Amino acid sequence: MGTTTDPHQRDSVTGRVADPAAHARAVRSLFARISGVYDHMNHLLSLDRDRRWRRRVAARLAPETGTVLDLCAGTGDLGLACLAAGRARRVIAVDFVPEMLAGIAAKPGAHDVRPVVGDGLRLPLRADCVDAVVAGFGVRNLTDPAAGLREMLRVLRPGGRILVLDFFRADLAAVGVRRGPPAPVNWALSTLIPAIGRLVARDHAAYAYLSGSMARFLSVGEFADLMRQAGCRDVFVERLTLGIAHVVGGRRG
Ligand SMILES: C[S@@+](CC[C@H](N)C(=O)[O-])C[C@H]1O[C@@H](n2cnc3c(N)ncnc32)[C@H](O)[C@@H]1O
Repeated sequence: MGTTTDPHQRDSVTGRVADPAAHARAVRSLFARISGVYDHMNHLLSLDRDRRWRRRVAARLAPETGTVLDLCAGTGDLGLACLAAGRARRVIAVDFVPEMLAGIAAKPGAHDVRPVVGDGLRLPLRADCVDAVVAGFGVRNLTDPAAGLREMLRVLRPGGRILVLDFFRADLAAVGVRRGPPAPVNWALSTLIPAIGRLVARDHAAYAYLSGSMARFLSVGEFADLMRQAGCRDVFVERLTLGIAHVVGGRRG
């Protein structure tokens, strides 16, 4: 009997996935499938906290930042939150799934957003052309998070801010916990979220991937280290809602 490798499995140090091509193919297909229900499911699964988390990111930008790149923008809510808070004058929203970007057009503020279909690991943007980069729940899907950070830094002007909002792997050692996450947390990730995905979005596999991707990703401390190694300075971590989500930020040195 042959063995199959999980293409989403990650190296525990670099966070790189085992099979980048298969992973990227699966991620594209998944978000294309759920694009129509994506916003609704976010609000439902987070009990509407996701709106508040995006506002926290926006508040970290300097007022009236010029051009903000929203990386892995999806349906655009993070860039739109920056515009609504008066923290961005214009947004470039990059995502490799056009069906997700299509959701931006009908939203308030969309006239200041330029949707661009492109890969976050090979941005179709010139060097030093944006004043800040934000990425909401996107880096966890990249095949190589360090390569994603290098691209963000390439297009960011010197001194500009990077703000990453995401769910990271629970770092039990850092909080002095020896055993795995409590049973209700495991149950919510492995059973409840996929079950709600099946019921509401009619896509169990998509929501099983999304909750599994948190457990496979780097911890927030490891990701902050990756940002420092990539050349970011003034790196900070902000815990949101009991550490369910985090903002990790820094500046291009
Ligand atoms: C969970 S959604 C996040 C959407 C949005 N940023 C938000 O705050 O809700 C992740 C998005 O990342 C996109 N994505 C994943 N890998 C990508 C890549 N290599 N290049 C561009 N977009 C990517 C997916 O298509 C998807 O729209």
